[in-house]
Amino acid sequence: MQVVILDSAAEVGEYAARTILRGVSAGSIKSLGVATGSSPLAIYKVLQRHRSPELSALNAFALDEYVGLAPDHPESYAAVIRREVTDRLGLDPRRVHVPDGGAADLPAACARFEAAIRAAGGIDLQILGIGRNGHIGFNEPTSSLASRTRVKTLMSATRKDNARFFADASQVPSLCLTQGLGTIMEARKVILVAQGKAKAQAVVRAVEGPLASMCPASVLQMHPQATFVLDREAAGDL
Ligand code: GLP
Repeated sequence: MQVVILDSAAEVGEYAARTILRGVSAGSIKSLGVATGSSPLAIYKVLQRHRSPELSALNAFALDEYVGLAPDHPESYAAVIRREVTDRLGLDPRRVHVPDGGAADLPAACARFEAAIRAAGGIDLQILGIGRNGHIGFNEPTSSLASRTRVKTLMSATRKDNARFFADASQVPSLCLTQGLGTIMEARKVILVAQGKAKAQAVVRAVEGPLASMCPASVLQMHPQATFVLDREAAGDL
């Protein structure tokens, strides 16, 4: 695992975006795994400034989705990805895949999502944020380290953290679909970005702690090409 520590949150976004742009121009990134949350937003803004035909030709795979929000609900991850990724990067919406949290048969929707990743030849680079409890995607503590895309229950701490995007905590769905840790580990490269003091404990557990399902991000210790890109505050406890 490589750890890159930069002075500011803006530099974190810039560094991760530059890595992606290099891979896109070299032709080694054709499928990008994209994350929601506030941490990766700066990356998408930098990518938008460097739009190119190669960038707009990418396939994109979201990490996760809430169950039970209509796709036009502004906080559904389908809507967030459309706003922050598809529109900014000029992607073809037919190449952008988000697990279908509105499907009548959720396990079948998860299987379809995994099949779409396989059909695209896998994910070349996966962008990740990290939750304060060490979750990646919506793989909460105790997630199987080998898990695949599936239905998960959100922990109350995560629902509280995400309540800022909703009118109040009771409106945050309690179920979600998420790529599994096994799915994430199959991406050829992983870049995890974290900014701010609130992430410092999760970062130190992921980087220095034991490999444990209680800190799902610690599974990245086993990934051959994982990079943590951190600002000084997020790296403060290392
Ligand atoms: C959500 C997302 C995660 C994200 C996490 C942290 O739970 N499902 O993918 O990493 O929030 O979000 P933020 O970057 O806003 O702190």
